[in-house]
Amino acid sequence: MCCGEGTGRVKKTRAIRLRRSWVSVISLIGLASSTSGCGVIGGKIASTSDPAGDQARHIWDLFVVPVWWLSVAVFLLVTVWMLLNIVLFRRKPGDTRIPAQVHGNPRLEIAWTLIPAIILALIAIPSTRLVFQLNRDPGPGSNALRVQVIGHQWWWEFRYPEFGIVTAGDLHLVVDRPVVLSITSQDVIHSFWPPRLAGKVDAIPGRENTLVFTPEETGVFYGQCAELCGAQHAHMQFRVVVHSQQEFDAWVDKHRRPAPDPAPGTLAATGKQLFEGAAGCAGCHSMNPTYDPSTPINKILAVGPNLAYFSERQTVAAFLPNTPENLHRWIAETEAVKPYSIMAEKWWKIRAQQNQLLTPEEVDAIVAYLRSQ
Ligand code: CUA
Repeated sequence: MCCGEGTGRVKKTRAIRLRRSWVSVISLIGLASSTSGCGVIGGKIASTSDPAGDQARHIWDLFVVPVWWLSVAVFLLVTVWMLLNIVLFRRKPGDTRIPAQVHGNPRLEIAWTLIPAIILALIAIPSTRLVFQLNRDPGPGSNALRVQVIGHQWWWEFRYPEFGIVTAGDLHLVVDRPVVLSITSQDVIHSFWPPRLAGKVDAIPGRENTLVFTPEETGVFYGQCAELCGAQHAHMQFRVVVHSQQEFDAWVDKHRRPAPDPAPGTLAATGKQLFEGAAGCAGCHSMNPTYDPSTPINKILAVGPNLAYFSERQTVAAFLPNTPENLHRWIAETEAVKPYSIMAEKWWKIRAQQNQLLTPEEVDAIVAYLRSQ
């Protein structure tokens, strides 16, 4: 009786354990598929295996040959050899012989040290060569576009010294035209990474790192900060918008002057008043798309991202799709959307403490103003 109960309990515990392990496996699969869905734009995953720029293509080619094919060869060789040995040299019934002992055999030791060394050298030679080829500045004689990239906790700023244009969140480039990015940071170390276009480059305060590549397709590409840089690291995204030369020229033309003011008497006009006055937005955000190109790269232009022509931006708060609903939520519930951001800490929380949060109507007006841009 007692023992029957005991076996029952053991069975039950086993069943629970089994169920738990299934739950873990299923949750892991779920987690993997949900995270691998990150960075989907236009139905395409931001995968390094689908390059749309010359640098990303060189890196991918290096991975396929030699890394991938060498790995496949090693895997097949080892597996076939192992299976053959298991089948051919299986101990037969009644056989009590001890196999030949090879411990300390110098020939074998040399062989299994040399073979991996040769394989590593085969991978190292082209890798090192590529490292030296990449990110070479084509020099002032080329038609390369030059952009300064500045990392902030937690958004990216882009300055075009050639045109005196500054923007944030979206990097605008030209298809088939090389770009030379000078990358730095204004606070901690970030890492600039547009997976389908190029490799990663660290953004380090007080230092300018160079990333050189040529986009080979038009469209919008996903970018991500690739260095753990604080609470909102995962939300420190950007988009690369690759235009035809003609489209890019139009973009530059437009951004050389501020967007026109909203018509008087409209909701957007009320929003502009609030933005520049009572709401305090203009204290951190500039609406002027231009800057003095002689400004050093490490000099802060404004605390928050430049918001000129905001309606054209791909994202709100550097990660949410730019819809009126998301913009409304970002202004009304900043702390919930992106906790620890400067806007949450220095604007939303302080206004909340002082009971000065904007009314839904006021938020609507600011949304209308930003959308009118
Ligand atoms: Cu910036 Cu992670």
